[in-house]
Formats: sequence, C-alpha cells, structure tokens
Amino acid sequence: MKKISIETGRPYEMVIGSGLLENAAGYILDMTGPCHAALVTDSNVAGLYAGTVSEVLSDAGFDVTLIEFPAGEENKDLESYGAIIEQIARAGLSRSDVVIALGGGVTGDMAGFAAATYLRGIRYVQIPTTYLAAVDSSVGGKTAVDLGKGKNLCGAFWQPSLVLCDYSTFRTLSPSEMLDGSAESYKSAMIGDMELAAPVKEIMTEIRESGGELTESVYDKLEVVIERSVTVKKSVVEKDERDTGERQLLNFGHTFGHSIEKLSDYAIPHGHAVARGMVCEARAAFAMGLCDFDAAGKIESDLAGMGFDLDVPYSAEKILEYAKNDKKVRTDDVTVVVPEAPGKCGLRKIPLEELEGYIEAGLPKQ
Ligand SMILES: NC(=O)c1ccc[n+]([C@@H]2O[C@H](COP(=O)([O-])OP(=O)(O)OC[C@H]3O[C@@H](n4cnc5c(N)ncnc54)[C@H](O)[C@@H]3O)[C@@H](O)[C@H]2O)c1
Ligand SMILES: [Zn+2]
Repeated sequence: MKKISIETGRPYEMVIGSGLLENAAGYILDMTGPCHAALVTDSNVAGLYAGTVSEVLSDAGFDVTLIEFPAGEENKDLESYGAIIEQIARAGLSRSDVVIALGGGVTGDMAGFAAATYLRGIRYVQIPTTYLAAVDSSVGGKTAVDLGKGKNLCGAFWQPSLVLCDYSTFRTLSPSEMLDGSAESYKSAMIGDMELAAPVKEIMTEIRESGGELTESVYDKLEVVIERSVTVKKSVVEKDERDTGERQLLNFGHTFGHSIEKLSDYAIPHGHAVARGMVCEARAAFAMGLCDFDAAGKIESDLAGMGFDLDVPYSAEKILEYAKNDKKVRTDDVTVVVPEAPGKCGLRKIPLEELEGYIEAGLPKQ
C-alpha cells in the first residue's frame, strides 16, 4: 500500500492498494464521521462494485443514497449532471455530508462537478476504478461535463478530500481500457519521469501475454506506475492548481487528442485519442522548430508496441475547428506542449494563425 499527500490549497491524501474497497468506510469515516453519503456510479460499475461499497458504508453507520447514470463519455453531459445533482438534493445532503465518485474518469469528473456546485461545494471522495482515473483524473481537482461545442467546457476546480485507489478493480477492465490508462501514464513519463515508461510498457506486454488477465506481476507494476504517475501530476498541480501556467504541461497530446475524441463522436476513447495526440504534437513541435528534440519516432514506436492504433482519420481543417474551441486556446495565441528531452516537456506559445500549420505538420503523412 502507498500513500501520497497532495499539497494543494486544501491538502488531501491518495491511498493506493489492493482490496481497499472493503475498507473504504474506515477511511471515509476518519474524514467525515458518520454522515449521509451520495454514492455516484455509472451503469457498468453499479453492478460490479457499488454493492460492496454501499454495504461497507451502511455497516459503518453511513446513510447511503446510490445514484446511477448511464455509462459512457456521451453521457458526461448537462443532462446526467442535472439528474445527479437533483438526486443529491432530493436525498437532502447538507454541507457536512459527502459525495463519493465510484468509477472511471467520467464518473469522477461529473460527480466531482456535482459536489463542486451543490450548495456551492461539498466534500467528495474519488474511488477510481479505471487505470486512467487512477493515474490521472482522480487527482488534481478538475471537474467538468462536456458541452455540444467540446469537452469539459462546463466545470470547476474542486479538489477531492480523499482518493482511494483499489487497483484490484482493474481486473474487470478490457485490454483496451487498460491502454487508456497507459496513454496518460506514458504522458507522465514524457513530461516528468522517463523511467516510468518501462513499467508502463511492460504492463501492456504482460497483459497481452496472459490473454488479458492481470497477474501478480502486473499488480506490482501497477502500484509503482500509479504512484509515479500521480507524483508527476502532483508536482505540477501543486505549483499551478488553477491551470494558468505549468499545469498546461499535462495537456501534452490533448490539443489533438480532444479534437480526435470529439470528431470520432467518442468512438475513440480519451486515452486512445491522447496517444495519437502525443505522436502528432511531438512531430509538429519538431517540424515547426519549436524544440530541438525529435521525440515523435520513439513515442510512436513505444505506443504502437503497446498496442495502440495511431491512425488519425481526420483532416487538419476538422481538427483545427475543434482545437480552437478547446478551453486552453486564448484569443490570440495558443500554448502547445513540446518535448525538450527524455522525461522533460516545455510550453511554447504560437500565434493562433499558425495553429493550422502546426496541425498539418503533426498529422501522419499518408
Ligand atoms: N479531471 C481530469 O483531470 C481528467 C484527466 C484525464 C481524463 N479525464 C476524463 O476522464 C474521462 C475518461 O476516463 P475513463 O477512461 O476512466 O472513462 P470512463 O469513466 O467512461 O470508463 C471507461 C469504461 O470503463 C467502465 N468501467 C469503469 N470501471 C470499471 C471496472 N473496474 N471494470 C469494468 N468496467 C469499468 C466504465 O463504465 C466505462 O464504460 C474523460 O472524460 C476525460 O476527459 C479527466
Ligand atoms: Zn487526459
């Protein structure tokens, strides 16, 4: 078991281990005392893990209201958010109660946004059940839902009060969902800890060799990868909680990635889109002379080796349209992330009119 302290304005802990779901009540009780808990989960995770969490909470003296929404990025929207927050209100939660997000990044982002906005903010706990949520979205306090115009356009910064990561829940993820998490961990390696790349790749090789099963060796590596990925994210978020500077490093792969995800109507999931985005952005950065380090070839071969499809079946024009809507595009310039050395990225500003050229330079040559 590992513990990481995240020293944001309101500090909190992430606990990483196997079998934590069964002990979740104890951790939450230490923080809140017995209270009313709104347990928010999606329609897939409801049947897998909500029963256990709900039971241990009830046994520990919590009042539990289970709130379920239909799974999938296409439901990370105002409608599901509205339904969740209405149910929280109907259950009568007060400021001394707690929201618990049990699920992947979609659940965490949306339940976190409900917690951020209900009564102008109540405490919430993240219990990530996907690899992606464990290494990335459960930490850092970005909460949001998507709007028609683009991803995460309606949201708030609201840090969780506790993150409980039980990686034994990954046993029910598909290899493709494990790849989603690998993309964000590989991103952490690129921006802050190149040694992390080796275990990230080994996890996917071992999963392939075992026919999809998570072996003891995979679990051991997962614990290391989650801890190190979150340590990279923590160091960035602690310096720039509200994303005005250095935190934008975490967007490596996301200028292209968010556009690809949206253009595919979410058929290409977040991590798979970010993987393509990292290759494109490394290629564009070098081609445009924004950095001296030509990282694209290595990123491409590492990601292809892990099993990613890196095809980008969209035109520069289409990608540009969405990239311009992306929240991080300021009026007259755009910040892009460029690889500077193995395990080190930097930020560059390019004029908005150069964004199209940047996107063209990043796309794979047919
Ligand atoms: N807030 C942040 O800082 C941040 C960072 C990265 C990504 N994100 C967001 O995270 C989202 C992607 O997260 P995700 O990949 O976890 O998606 P997700 O929450 O949709 O989960 C992927 C799928 O796995 C299912 N699932 C979850 N846990 C499971 C389990 N243990 N066993 C079987 N199935 C399970 C879900 O029902 C879903 O179908 C995107 O919306 C992205 O924008 C946010
Ligand atoms: Zn991401």
